[in-house]
Amino acid sequence: MRFWIRLIWQFLIFKFVISEGRNFRVIFDNISISNVDPEVFEKFDCQLYQINNRSFVDTSHIFKETVTDLKVHAALDFWKAKSPKMTLYDLEFDGCHFLQNVHKNRLFNIYAKTLKKYSNISFKCPFQANVLYAVRNMTMNEQDFPSFVPLGKFRSLIEYSVNQKLSSRVFVNGKIISYSTDPFKISK
Ligand SMILES: *[C@@H]1O[C@H](CO)[C@@H](O)[C@H](O)[C@H]1NC(C)=O
Ligand SMILES: *[C@@H]1O[C@H](CO)[C@@H](O)[C@H](O)[C@H]1NC(C)=O
Ligand SMILES: *[C@@H]1O[C@H](CO)[C@@H](O)[C@H](O)[C@H]1NC(C)=O
Ligand SMILES: *[C@@H]1O[C@H](CO)[C@@H](O)[C@H](O)[C@H]1NC(C)=O
Repeated sequence: MRFWIRLIWQFLIFKFVISEGRNFRVIFDNISISNVDPEVFEKFDCQLYQINNRSFVDTSHIFKETVTDLKVHAALDFWKAKSPKMTLYDLEFDGCHFLQNVHKNRLFNIYAKTLKKYSNISFKCPFQANVLYAVRNMTMNEQDFPSFVPLGKFRSLIEYSVNQKLSSRVFVNGKIISYSTDPFKISK
């Protein structure tokens, strides 16, 4: 009897551990930056690299002048296989403290949390002139996401406006792929 209880118990623990893993991965295919206003930015660039099936991003921003008025427009479109586009968020907000605030949109929160984790300086107003605001080795941690995420493609748009004028636009194209990280490869 005790043997069975122990077996069932161990099975439950085992199942719990497995289901805590994530069987997907967030891949960035490409990032494009456009409309960079040379009066606002001394430098604004971005590198994307893929290591062991994981995407990493480095970005550098240097402002020419101190920035005290920053607005952000952020949108995320998602395409599940053979399905029409879904807009998961489309937000406009004050960018001065956007990494400090908690956002109502859970997906956007994941993004803000990730950016904050990999940046080496607080991204908040006033943004200083001639200081490097860098993000290094940023990668999406699947554990931050809900355990079930549909597979598909996405496109993320971020537009920054400084003093009410568009100063840069960033598009990130990527996908959510099935990716088994557990050694047992449970079949679907
Ligand atoms: C990367 O993905 C490929 C194809 O799915 C797989 O064969 C390879 O083992 C993966 N590499 C790592 C380091 O996970
Ligand atoms: C941020 O990192 C860059 C290099 O990655 C460095 O040059 C810069 O001084 C750092 N800034 C701060 C405030 O640590
Ligand atoms: C970036 O992360 C990868 C994987 O975690 C690591 O191998 C690499 O050394 C890191 N690079 C830097 C500059 O931190
Ligand atoms: C960027 O990646 C998407 C797929 O996510 C692809 O459709 C598009 O052609 C790529 N664009 C460039 C410029 O490589």
